Amino acid sequence: MKVLIVYASTEGQTQKIATELLNFIKSETTSCDLLNAGDGFRLPVGSYDAFVLAASIHHSEHQSSMFHFIQDNKDLLNQKPCCFLSVSLSAALPDALHQQEAKSYLNTFLEHTGLQPRMSLCVAGALRYQEMDYFRRELARTILLRTMGTTDVDLSRDYEFTDYEEVYSLIETFLPVPTIKQDVDESTDI
Ligand SMILES: Cc1cc2nc3c(=O)[nH]c(=O)nc-3n(C[C@H](O)[C@H](O)[C@H](O)COP(=O)(O)O)c2cc1C
Repeated sequence: MKVLIVYASTEGQTQKIATELLNFIKSETTSCDLLNAGDGFRLPVGSYDAFVLAASIHHSEHQSSMFHFIQDNKDLLNQKPCCFLSVSLSAALPDALHQQEAKSYLNTFLEHTGLQPRMSLCVAGALRYQEMDYFRRELARTILLRTMGTTDVDLSRDYEFTDYEEVYSLIETFLPVPTIKQDVDESTDI
């Protein structure tokens, strides 16, 4: 089986999740490639058997590169097994309001694109303050105020909320792990 992971990532967390998934999926019987949604033309997308798409939320929107990748390949993605991961800060917050918000980002995107994935998941992302310039840090503080209700955070460290086990578990259901061929003793007693 050939699997293609396509990601769109602004600060790098979705790229990290996609890379972890690449290592998780690759096996003797399953090959897996990683593609940045903006580089969609670089691989023969039609040659893959299954797709995992992952994009993150900024100002309530997924990246336009993922939108365009889906538009360019929609028929194929809707015919073959496809799984969509939506990475956001809202998904990291346990209360019903934020969980609902994370779901609405995902559902609105699926409606706009017409993508009909077999499985989808809202995934908790990260805030990488250390890699942000002043302007992005200020934007991130605004987002923290809106999502977490506070800007009183320690800016000397990064925050990662992703639950990798949850993501792996979804992928295991989406792409059944190949069964290990049992050595059968075919000798028969006469
Ligand atoms: C400028 C900015 C805007 C963001 N806007 C939202 C938002 O509207 N809702 C939300 O839940 N998370 C928001 N986030 C959090 C991101 O979704 C989170 O940091 C995610 O891990 C980013 O993934 P990436 O590193 O792959 O781009 C925002 C983050 C930044 C830095």
